[in-house]
Amino acid sequence: MADAAAATIRATFRLPDGTEHTVDVRPEEHVLAAGLAAGLDLPYSCLQGWCLTCAARVLRGEIDQSDSKRYYDEDRRAGFALLCTGRARGDLLLETHARDAMREARRQHGLPFPLGDWGDLDKDS
Ligand code: FES
Repeated sequence: MADAAAATIRATFRLPDGTEHTVDVRPEEHVLAAGLAAGLDLPYSCLQGWCLTCAARVLRGEIDQSDSKRYYDEDRRAGFALLCTGRARGDLLLETHARDAMREARRQHGLPFPLGDWGDLDKDS
């Protein structure tokens, strides 16, 4: 029988207000789902790894993005993850609310990115 405690991964979310929140993530669970279940206010929209709304910077750790509809090697090299469809492959330190930065990185690499303006995710308005 598997040892569930040994399989637990710790993900720390750094939010725009500078606070950090560490939650347990199961290996088969998407990182966004674990954060939302812990009560964190995290942005998301498509939940398919497409729109970049859930983007985060990966400051430490590895994320498997094989469930994402659109994720490029350049995204990984630039340090971005799509939390809605990402599975932790070890403990993580994440900086959330990185949609605009990831979109700019895609633009600079000549890669597709969603058009349009969905407002400022980092501010109450
Ligand atoms: S919510 Fe759309 S890419 Fe994650």
